[in-house]
Amino acid sequence: MKIKNICCIGAGYVGGPTMAVIAHKCPDIKVTIVDLNKQRIADWNDENLDNLPVYEPGLADVVASARGRNLFFSTDVEKAIEEAEMIFISVNTPTKTYGLGKGQAADLKYIELCARQIAAVAKNDKIVVEKSTLPVRTAQAIKDILENTGNGVKFEILSNPEFLAEGTAVEDLMHPDRVLIGGDTDEDGQKAIQALVDVYANWIPKEKILTTNVWSSELSKLTANAFLAQRVSSINAMSELCEKTGADVTEVARAIGMDSRIGPKFLKASVGFGGSCFQKDILNLVYIAKSYGLTEVADYWEQVIIMNDHQKRRFASNIVKTLYNTVSGKKIAFLGWAFKKDTNDTRESAAIYVANDLLNEQAEIAVYDPKVEDDTIYADLNYLGSRSAEDNTKGVKTFTDPYEACNDAHAIAVLTEWDEFKDYDWQKIYENMKKPAFVFDGRNLLDGKKMNEIGFIYQEIGK
Ligand code: NAD
Ligand code: UGA
Repeated sequence: MKIKNICCIGAGYVGGPTMAVIAHKCPDIKVTIVDLNKQRIADWNDENLDNLPVYEPGLADVVASARGRNLFFSTDVEKAIEEAEMIFISVNTPTKTYGLGKGQAADLKYIELCARQIAAVAKNDKIVVEKSTLPVRTAQAIKDILENTGNGVKFEILSNPEFLAEGTAVEDLMHPDRVLIGGDTDEDGQKAIQALVDVYANWIPKEKILTTNVWSSELSKLTANAFLAQRVSSINAMSELCEKTGADVTEVARAIGMDSRIGPKFLKASVGFGGSCFQKDILNLVYIAKSYGLTEVADYWEQVIIMNDHQKRRFASNIVKTLYNTVSGKKIAFLGWAFKKDTNDTRESAAIYVANDLLNEQAEIAVYDPKVEDDTIYADLNYLGSRSAEDNTKGVKTFTDPYEACNDAHAIAVLTEWDEFKDYDWQKIYENMKKPAFVFDGRNLLDGKKMNEIGFIYQEIGK
């Protein structure tokens, strides 16, 4: 079966870039991305490509190459479902904030809604692809809903988890390490798998397209994120020990990373990992393990989160301790709010938690981030619910000029590793700060020797 028409439900950080790349690479396939969020769709359709809702290097060019040709963004979910032979579900699957599994299990209400809508609308056979990250065995639930609420048409469910990282999404999609497709082992399942393999084969070498059963595919996605996050927590655990012993975490990371069995990636000590998925997916893994009675397995993975929370908290408490045990009324400038560089995404960013702790100590926070909007910063803090929105607005000021953000500050905290921070005129920043002038580098980004020469008291993670 040759796919001519694809629909993707969910125009977020995954749906937008993945489908834009499919449309770019497969001009013969019509790709329609739909979302309930009207503003998001309007932003994807904005003529000014600077206004796309997702910032990713290279994404604007990819969208421009296909939009209006074979790539469409729409709020007409039903029409897009009806027309498509293959439907990707790429909606959010956040941690549940209520009921059974609160704080750990994935909230599958958006997934279920999609399944019910597909079942209600579909008038001919469809292949439904799980692109969202889902608990293992979700495909069974989707199949049940489709088969029991549909119009008697046939559905094949595939799992095709996405491994892109934000900030490098376009590059990751153009040249992925692998594409994973899980499907039923019977003949119809294999035909559906082949239809999706053929889509990716337009630009991805066949040997990089891996096919498995549905459960392996679903579980591999959670496993990959858990392993990656575990490396960050492992090096962050070592960073604290380095600070006590005189070892240097960057040197330790280099020394172990050259062991080809360990490898050099994901060994950068930091203020703690953020992002919408690592924490959510590990919590979900913990919940799944617990639900099968696997207490030791659950506890093992939960420790990755415990270590990460500790790393964020100790970064904030170190600022307080170093500033003579009080930051009350002191201006602390934050360079960066996004959870990593080259993205405007702030979900679960360490900056939010560090700011929250410092606000509890009555600090005055000044934030500069090259891509994050003011509204997002306040929304992030308000979402935590530690204090009123009014108090958050009083305690945090946002700046469009980094030099202004740092004027008269007692300390600077580097929370995101934006490249531009390295090129600032640090001498000028130093001159306009209160003395002694402190820099707490949560990303080990700046040149420590140079910072000390200028006169800063400069602290890094794990040194
Ligand atoms: P997101 O919140 O940016 O986007 C999800 C979109 O789905 C939203 O715009 C929302 O309005 C829309 N939506 C929800 N229910 C809908 C419905 N019934 N009909 C139409 N639209 C609906 O989320 P995201 O970051 O793109 O993540 C989506 C999934 O992909 C999650 O499961 C996530 O774990 C997974 N994932 C994310 C990343 C990443 O880097 N962000 C990477 C790999 C996998
Ligand atoms: C991560 C995975 O890398 C993707 O493969 C996956 O698809 C995605 O989650 C997902 O499922 O959402 P992402 O969260 O976008 O991607 O970004 P990462 O590059 O993994 O960074 C996550 C966090 O870890 C960031 O806060 C980053 O600064 C931090 N990190 C990363 C470190 O502190 N040290 C490192 O060495 C690497």
